[in-house]
Amino acid sequence: MGMPDKAATVNRILENSDYVAAFQHHFGNAVFDDTDQAYAAMAESIAAFEMTTEFAPFDSKYDRSRSRYEGDDPYIMTTQESLGETLFFSEQFTNCQLCHQLKSLPGRQEELFSNHGYFNIGVPVNQAVRAANGKGASHIDHGLLDNPAVTDMAHDGKFKVPSLRNIAVTGPYMHNGLFADLTTVVLFYDKFNNVTRTLNPETGLAWAEAEVAGTVATDKLEEGGALSDAEVAAMVAFLKTLTDQRYEPLIE
Ligand code: HEC
Repeated sequence: MGMPDKAATVNRILENSDYVAAFQHHFGNAVFDDTDQAYAAMAESIAAFEMTTEFAPFDSKYDRSRSRYEGDDPYIMTTQESLGETLFFSEQFTNCQLCHQLKSLPGRQEELFSNHGYFNIGVPVNQAVRAANGKGASHIDHGLLDNPAVTDMAHDGKFKVPSLRNIAVTGPYMHNGLFADLTTVVLFYDKFNNVTRTLNPETGLAWAEAEVAGTVATDKLEEGGALSDAEVAAMVAFLKTLTDQRYEPLIE
């Protein structure tokens, strides 16, 4: 996150006396004597937190609909949500599973909905953000290639595949927040396979060109077929079932 080095990160922790006390409690009073040790303790703490049910409750409607679900309040998908799920994991009708499925079996309960890969899916520039941050219309966000450790031009314009958990309550979408609505995202993907999807419904104009055109993963994005309006709506209904139970009230 733009921190220059480990020491700077550790110094940030040292600014907070609650953190200092907790780190010393868990890792010993000498934990801050060595930067590498303190940094490793921070990483271990975050990893431990991410493994708790507080961070990852796996209690969305999607999880509660699994036959393996053993918690309270099991859920039965509606016909529409179930159609969306079938489409999402299908190799025939859509390509989503090529990037947003981690587990080898489709529909596993603790699916993370990202294969942790990096791809350029052809997202256009968000001109409003460009105007607001003053970078100017000619600036290009090269994504992964902007990392100084990455030099292979094949990585130009790639972004990490995000998890789709809680996606219905975490808009706007894409790294630059270009799309406000989940339906727009599904239509954006459908345009790779459906010649009738010529307009971005949020602007009323033709879809803008990819910010970085040369490396778009068309081999994957052109897998599958065109979706009908009803199938697009089913995909959106399915994506809403990926919302943790505590956030369900946020869905409009
Ligand atoms: C080639 C890999 C690939 C395929 C195939 C793919 N995605 Fe994605 N998806 C990505 C990447 C990479 C991003 C992040 C792009 C960005 O931020 O610019 C993304 C972003 C998204 C987002 C927005 C996430 C957010 O938090 O902003 C949604 C929703 C989404 N994808 C759903 C889908 C659906 C539904 C399908 C199938 C129709 C699909 N994706 C197919 C790689 C893929």
